[in-house]
Amino acid sequence: MVRKSFLFKGIVHRFIAGDTLAEALPVCEALTAKGFLTSLDYLGENTKSEDEAIAARNTYIEMLHTIAKSPCAKATNISIKLTQCGLDQGEEFAKKNYFEVLEAAQELGNFVRVDMEGSAYTKTTIEIIECAWQHYKNTGTVLQTYLHRTPQDVQTMIKLQARTRLVKGAYLEPEEVAYKDKSKVDEAYVECGKELMQKAFYPAFATHDEKIINTLKAFAQEEKIDKSRYEFQMLFGIRRDLQESLLKEGYNVRVYVPFGVSWYPYFTRRLAERPANIWFIVKSLVKG
Ligand code: FDA
Repeated sequence: MVRKSFLFKGIVHRFIAGDTLAEALPVCEALTAKGFLTSLDYLGENTKSEDEAIAARNTYIEMLHTIAKSPCAKATNISIKLTQCGLDQGEEFAKKNYFEVLEAAQELGNFVRVDMEGSAYTKTTIEIIECAWQHYKNTGTVLQTYLHRTPQDVQTMIKLQARTRLVKGAYLEPEEVAYKDKSKVDEAYVECGKELMQKAFYPAFATHDEKIINTLKAFAQEEKIDKSRYEFQMLFGIRRDLQESLLKEGYNVRVYVPFGVSWYPYFTRRLAERPANIWFIVKSLVKG
């Protein structure tokens, strides 16, 4: 119903920049004109066939070429998913697609971030990043602080000096692998965040949690870590006030800008993070 109903279109576009690259690019251009950095994300995950994965790879490459010709070229990279590169069709197949995207990005002087997905893919994703790193330095990944394994993965990324985005984690995970208690996830965020801040290459702190952001800002100040050595990241349409205020204070702030018609899983994760969003939807529907 959500997918098909026109009633949801306005609400979905609060979080998603458009159905097409042609709609999403002007959003990146407007953000970068204000001083933000952006990461463009083509929505979609878990391809069902090799053809679907190849089409996604081609779209990623097209995004890189289109960005290169745009005024936002210097401030915009892309975020991709390995399950959209065909990980369910085979590890070697997905790796080949990912490496082709990296090759195109390298030629164009751009960077490719590999989003982290459900825990069934964490180990493979880290291994693929380690393998990619032997050939390409224009890539990095994401670590989720709800996972028990993340402190070890932080050390792996520090050793590689691959750019790491730290998030709390957005998937429903069993308690054998992930903390269920929000305070534990937040505690782990601060611990991993401080470790990355001190030892990693240009880490990205992706959260809308103002308390955590303030803790990390204070830590960087105490440790005399310059603002140019890390960035904050937030999702398109969420806490725009906080995005603006960090930018005004002179921090690097990157906005994650998703586009595409396969928005349903991304959209439901955003609802799950904040039940108040569901009330927002109900109210909008009642108001018509
Ligand atoms: P938390 O959920 O505690 O929220 C703190 C505050 O932020 C809330 O009180 C509210 O004000 C605001 N807020 C948070 N979510 C909101 C929402 N949906 N709507 C409105 N307000 C909201 N995850 C993952 O598993 N793999 C990945 O690759 C990524 N990539 C990624 C990139 C970027 C740039 C960001 C910002 C986030 C991700 N995530 C992710 C998602 C991440 O794991 C997490 O689910 C969300 O960021 C929400 O968690 P917060 O850290 O914002 O804290």
